[in-house]
Amino acid sequence: MVDCKSKLLSGVAASLLFAITACGQDATPGAATTATQAAEDAEVSAPTASETLLAIADDHARAVLAQSPEWASFLGASEDVAGAGYQGRLGGYGFEANQHARALNESFLQDIRGVDRNDLDVQGAITYDVLRAAYETGAQRNQFDFGGSAVWGSGSPYVVTQLSGTHLFLPRLLQTQQPLASKADAQNYISRLSQFGRVFDEVIESVGNDAALGVVPPYFAIEGAQRSIASFTAGPPAENPLVTTFTGKIAEVDGLTDEERSTLTTEVTSLVEAVVYPAYARLGAVLENLAPQAGRDAGVWRLGAEGEAFYQHALNSYGAGGMTGEEIHQLGLSEVARITAEMDAILQAQGMADGSVAERFEAIGQRDEMRYANTDDGRAELLADLNVQVDGIMEKAPGWFGAVPSQPVEVRRIPVYEQDSAPGGYYNSPSLDGTRPGIYWINLKDTADWPKHTLKTLTYHEAVPGHHFQRSLERAAGLPLIRNMLGYSEFSEGWALYAEQVAAEMGMYEDDPLSNLGRLQSELFRAARLVVDSGLHHKRWTREEAIDYMTGVTGDTRAAVTREVERYSVWPGQACSYKLGMLKINELRNKAEAELGDAFDIRAFHDEVLLTGSMPLPVLEQKIDRWIEAAKDA
Ligand SMILES: *[C@@H]1O[C@H](CO)[C@@H](O)[C@H](O)[C@H]1NC(C)=O
Repeated sequence: MVDCKSKLLSGVAASLLFAITACGQDATPGAATTATQAAEDAEVSAPTASETLLAIADDHARAVLAQSPEWASFLGASEDVAGAGYQGRLGGYGFEANQHARALNESFLQDIRGVDRNDLDVQGAITYDVLRAAYETGAQRNQFDFGGSAVWGSGSPYVVTQLSGTHLFLPRLLQTQQPLASKADAQNYISRLSQFGRVFDEVIESVGNDAALGVVPPYFAIEGAQRSIASFTAGPPAENPLVTTFTGKIAEVDGLTDEERSTLTTEVTSLVEAVVYPAYARLGAVLENLAPQAGRDAGVWRLGAEGEAFYQHALNSYGAGGMTGEEIHQLGLSEVARITAEMDAILQAQGMADGSVAERFEAIGQRDEMRYANTDDGRAELLADLNVQVDGIMEKAPGWFGAVPSQPVEVRRIPVYEQDSAPGGYYNSPSLDGTRPGIYWINLKDTADWPKHTLKTLTYHEAVPGHHFQRSLERAAGLPLIRNMLGYSEFSEGWALYAEQVAAEMGMYEDDPLSNLGRLQSELFRAARLVVDSGLHHKRWTREEAIDYMTGVTGDTRAAVTREVERYSVWPGQACSYKLGMLKINELRNKAEAELGDAFDIRAFHDEVLLTGSMPLPVLEQKIDRWIEAAKDA
């Protein structure tokens, strides 16, 4: 999901915001009265191999959620699925919890390996392929003993960074995901707060275990975490967001007396003072002690041979399909050169010949006629333009997509109170019950962030045919719970980037060369990520070399680029997933076109990619190969 550029870990959490599909229907066998009937019933109700697989997967998903009640909160799981009272619990973050999680996953992998794929129906076989790939990748990840037991199976080799760790994640969980609509909810909130001390001590244990293995985050990751800790605990406890958010929300809860409200607020305030602040202080002190060991290097190669192996694993887990860091780097450089040349040609045709492509592109955004007024009228005009773009491409969609989502997508401005911390744009899926449409959110804090020629591409990426198509159609597929828990940025972001290109093929940029430049700039940005990610982790670039390169290619501000580079440093490989996914979808499409010739139908191809949900790229490739073979025989 999420915006053109500043997608942070919040995007990962947000991608887990799927509501849960119905699972575990009870098949109550009929009460048999005669032996014959009983035999018949047994025959009728004996589960198929696919049903058995789904039942095993469902049990496993529930066990994972029982271990990680935080994850269940992000999913909005029912207590039936995630356990009674789970909203009041926090999972484990230390060595023992990690061992337990590994054992659970290993035993599930054994169970999957025990299933005979040939016995499964078509959907069952896809779920089998996805799960087997996911858990084999997970088992490879677990060969590295660092990175702790992050609930999300974070891709970072470090437990605490400027972007990730409980110091950021838990407050976000409590403020954005924790229900607070009843007195029982308030008690759950308090119960979770009371566990911060235990959780932070387990995190400290993991940080210490990693340090003993020589794994310490880079200095800027430590400094960034220290800054967050300091600012989070700078004010008096009563003014901490954990208290103010709570007070604000319970003010709206019916059935609480003023006295109860004030007792609850007092309880929360004293927990923040007596438990939360000291926990943050202990973590801060540990980071302070580690800082001298951090060193100046940014890439994961700094961890030695294990670091290099980790990078190769990370690349593969984000869709590299065995390509090495060197190959990714060369691929990135050639994509940057190709896209830059295309942009240069368009700029030349506009009579703009002087300066770098990045400078000339930037200059277009500075023109008065490319800006919306930074007023309510200007914002209304911008939103109206986005709606026109959505309607325009929806009209052409049936010529390019067999299945079109039945749910509409709505364009909305990110609420003013969220806009300081929110990304530029993002997408929310429609609700399962169909009452809420898909929503394409845009941050209109300052309309100068959105010169006109950048907006079409944002629309095609976030909404149609990008995230809205992918996510709504996936939702309509009714996937089992475990598949809603597994996300693949190389699939969903790869699709959204591919969608920008399809929009161009659909003619959406005809007679609009400046917007087409906007599209190319967005693609250039993702290509530069291949170069910079592999530059940092494989070519051993310094943080500063990476910043210089990326600023030169994209023309973005140094501050924005610095945030990007520091993110790639602590999250190896992930930045490559966007371009790798897009390239793979194009490769599969070209293969299908070449093999099927006139019988190739782009609508059927798009359905084939979208209608079975997000999956690792090797599984998608096998699926498309089978489809090509079947279409040839038809
Ligand atoms: C276990 O599997 C889940 C996916 O269901 C994954 O997110 C998590 O990282 C895995 N944990 C470990 C320790 O392998």
